[in-house]
Amino acid sequence: MRLIAFVLLAAAAVAQAPSYQNIGTMSQLMINIIYPTSDALFYIERAAPKTEADWNLVKNNALTLAESGNLLLMPGRVREGEWAADTKMMIDVATLAFKAAQAKDMQKILDLSEDLSNSCIKCHLKYRPGYGRGK
Ligand code: HEC
Repeated sequence: MRLIAFVLLAAAAVAQAPSYQNIGTMSQLMINIIYPTSDALFYIERAAPKTEADWNLVKNNALTLAESGNLLLMPGRVREGEWAADTKMMIDVATLAFKAAQAKDMQKILDLSEDLSNSCIKCHLKYRPGYGRGK
């Protein structure tokens, strides 16, 4: 009896397990999350952060960018081939940028620019339609 109750409870838990919901298209993730947050890091010098609030914005952008990599790995978004490895590259660089933001180290963020840009290009060359092959 107790076993049956347990099995029923377990089945109910599985049935209610929250599932991922893909809200944005790949293009929207790029334009609305990844592009603005990475731009904030690429062009950090344009409005060099000074106050605590400024640095909080840098942290927001770096963390959002790093975590957005996880969005690229969700079911329905992840693709075959080198997609996951390319995404990991972006996550790793953005994670370093987040740590640099926590340390309020603008130079470190600037030093990461090339690696960050390469992480975008690496994926785009393979997966972004029309990219790098002339329009
Ligand atoms: C793992 C793969 C991957 C990574 C990493 C990646 N992108 Fe993309 N990106 C794509 C794909 C796929 C598209 C094409 C989306 C579409 O049109 O459906 C795209 C398109 C774009 C677009 C054009 C969107 C449009 O519809 O006009 C921009 C802008 C962009 N990416 C910015 C970036 C930036 C900036 C980075 C790095 C910080 C980055 N992406 C990293 C896969 C990636």
